[in-house]
Parts: sequence; structure tokens; C-alpha cells
Amino acid sequence: MELPYAEPYKIKMVESINRSTKEQRLKWIKKANYNLFNLTSDKVFIDLLTDSGTGAMSDKQWAEMMIGDESYAGSSSFLKLKKTVKKITGFNYFLPTHQGRAAENVLFSAMVKEGDVVPGNSHFDTTKGHIEFRKATAVDCTIDEAFDTSKIHPFKGNIDIQKLKIVFKKYPVEKIPFVILTITCNSSGGQPVSMQNVKEVSKLCKQYNVPLFFDSARFAENAYFIKKREKGYESKTIKEIAKEVFSYGDGMTMSAKKDGLVNMGGFIALNSKEIFKQATVFNIMFEGFITYGGMNGRDMGALAVGLDEATEFNYLESRVEQVAYLGNKLVEFGVPVQQPIGGHAIFLDANKFVPNIPREEYRAQALAVEIYIVGGIRGVEIGTVLADRDPITRENRYPELELVRLAIPRRTYSNNHMDYIAVALKNIYDTRNEAKTGYIIIEEAPIMRHFTTKFKKV
Ligand code: F0G
Repeated sequence: MELPYAEPYKIKMVESINRSTKEQRLKWIKKANYNLFNLTSDKVFIDLLTDSGTGAMSDKQWAEMMIGDESYAGSSSFLKLKKTVKKITGFNYFLPTHQGRAAENVLFSAMVKEGDVVPGNSHFDTTKGHIEFRKATAVDCTIDEAFDTSKIHPFKGNIDIQKLKIVFKKYPVEKIPFVILTITCNSSGGQPVSMQNVKEVSKLCKQYNVPLFFDSARFAENAYFIKKREKGYESKTIKEIAKEVFSYGDGMTMSAKKDGLVNMGGFIALNSKEIFKQATVFNIMFEGFITYGGMNGRDMGALAVGLDEATEFNYLESRVEQVAYLGNKLVEFGVPVQQPIGGHAIFLDANKFVPNIPREEYRAQALAVEIYIVGGIRGVEIGTVLADRDPITRENRYPELELVRLAIPRRTYSNNHMDYIAVALKNIYDTRNEAKTGYIIIEEAPIMRHFTTKFKKV
């Protein structure tokens, strides 16, 4: 008999989580104005709000925490991290920031101006926010296959080269400060970008003399998919694949809270000394001195180890295949999810799950609330609420997909938790026709409203 799969780690420390009753949860979510961000964590049983900063560090990372060098300038922890970033990405210049959006803020302050256009593959919301905040426009060039959740395509994060060409032809290159390629593409379902696509995008960028940057939050998971799905990469190591991807670009922003395996942190890495110099000014202004940029010495040490661990095949196999384990169970139950299953999360297709709830009543939000009520599971809406209003017309922007994301923290939950989630969703799916109404918004912020919106039941 073939030996079954087992995780390449054992557990050294545990954290209790609270069960609750459906009655309690009904009361709590009403008090939270039906916004899952307003729930305190003790009211959540399985927290799938995000995979960002919610993973478990290893004993080796914790050991690093004890020897962190907290010197303001030139700490050894900084040097350790700088060396690791160079080893893994190949980029020459490095600036630490406190998290991913801070890296965006610093880099975009140096590079994005009013009226600019920044093409990419379904920009993440903070990325888009930082572009639009500067009165520039994010142009989504993701392949059409990404918007059909049942279509099987190995690299649904890919950029459509034709769409990118149109942008390059339509706007003068001075208006295109860079192209940003998000690996994996969170907004399209944690879907990877192929090496082939990276190469093609890079070639086109070079032709037009436009820099190519990576939003690299989940670059290791992206490399895992390349190894598993792309011809010619089967026997390459994750580190070799990641480095090759980066070799086609000019720099990267990183939220280290994902594939850095730390709870807080981020950075920018670059090849251009000129851009580095400009970004340095903003780093000092917004983040801190260039050898800590908003991070503690101990956090930089833990991140150096985390980057090394996250780019090991055995770790990535346990991580990505756990997400697939949950996804495959849902598929078996007939629950509509984005397929193939992405790297960090399951994306439920609310348009197919609860079509009877009108779009104007935020059907994905309604589904996310129901999942909490039934199972104490906290996911997040990636639909009309997140898509926000058009900055000019102030009308709701209805995205092509209405999704609920169930993000799986790294090295945190067991497959028993996955089984529990799958059955909770099956039960909701089996009674889906009873759901006919959703929510209306009673209060919202002018930008990035999803964190604070207050809802009322229709
Ligand atoms: N880019 C991507 C692709 C992301 O997924 C995120 C964060 C960021 C940038 C910003 O990084 O949070 O460190 O400031 N994603 C989290 C999520 C919030 O839940 O997907 P950050």
C-alpha cells in the first residue's frame, strides 16, 4: 500500500480557538453591522479572513527573534535579510518597509504621477488604491479565462499580451511608469502566472522601454505552480524558478506577511540605482531609516529565515496541497469555486452560489455572512463591496466576479478544520434557494470602504 501524505513538520505550540453557537453568532454579526472585519477574533472559530500575517512561524524563525539586532542603523539583522533577498530574488537594491502596501506607497511615490496608466493582471486592492490615490489608472489586462470560474486553465493569472499591447499603443510610454505583475494573482483567485507569460510580458516591456515590477506577495506559491504545471520546470528547484521569474523584471514589492512567513513586514527590491535613490527618500519619510524601514531587527531576522523556508518544496507542497484538499472536497459537493484551486485560498463563486440575491444587495457579502453564522468561519467578500465606487461617477463598480475568499493561513489549521469548513459549506449550498435577499449599505468610507462599511439586512 502506498504511504499517505503527511506534513513535513510537527507541532510545538498550540493556540486555543473558541467554538460558539449559531445563536451567539447571529447576535454578534448583527452588532458588527454585518461586516466581518468588525468581529473580534474570539467570536471566530476558523479565521479565513486572510492568509496575511496569520501563519505560524517555525522554531528557527523564533530562534532568530531572540538574536535580533535592534540597532537603528546598520543592524546585523538587516544585513542578514538583505543577503537573503539578494540570494532569492537576484535584485541588487533592497529597502525594508513595514508591509506590502507600504512598499507600494514608497515605490509609487517615486514613480507614479497624475494621469499615468499602470497595466497589470487584476491589481490587488491596495495596489489599485495607491495608483488611484495618485490620480493614475490601473488597467487590468488579465486573460479572459480568469473571469470564468469553471474554466480550467493552468495559469489564470496570466496577462493577455494583446490587451497589454493595446495599452502600450494607446498611451505614450511616458504615461506608463511600469507594468505590475502580481504573482500569484490574488484578485483572480490566487492564480499563478506562467514563466512563459512572464517572459512575453518582459519582452514587450523591454520593447517599449517600460519597467516590469512584480507584486510578489505569493511568489513562492507561484513558483510551485510553475514547477508542477509548466513543461521544462519539473526538475528545477523552487529557488531556481523564483530567481528566474525575477530575472525578467526590474524590481518587486513584497508583502512579507504571505510568502515571507512572518506576521509583519515587507520590502522593495530593485535593479535600478536611480529608482532606489528616489525611493529611499520616501522610505525615510514614510517608513523609517533605510536599514529597518518600519521593521524590528528581530522581525527582519525572522523574515530572512522565512524566505528561505517558504522557497522549499516540502513546505510548499504541504501548503498548496492543503488548499487543494479543501477545494477538491468542495468540488465533490458541487459547491461552485474558482477552478483550478489557487495557491492560498478558495474562492467561492457567489454568482453561481446565490444567484437569487440581487447584485445590488451585495450577494457575495451576504454569502460571507451566512458562512460565519452557520460555521463560525470568517471569510471575506471579493465583489462589489471591495470593488468600491468609481472615483468619478461615484457609482458602484460591479466586477465580473462576485467572490467570497476563504484564505488559508500557512502552517496553522489541520485537515480536520478543512473537513469542517467543507461540510459547513455543503450545508449552506444545499439550502441555497432559501436565500433571496441581501444587504444595503448604511455607512461607508470614501476609499477602501470594505473594511468599515456598515450594512443592514434587506
Ligand atoms: N499585494 C497583494 C497581492 C496582496 O495580496 C496584498 C495583501 C498586498 C499587496 C498588500 O500587502 O497587506 O502587507 O500591506 N493582501 C492581504 C490579503 C491583505 O488578505 O490578501 P500588505
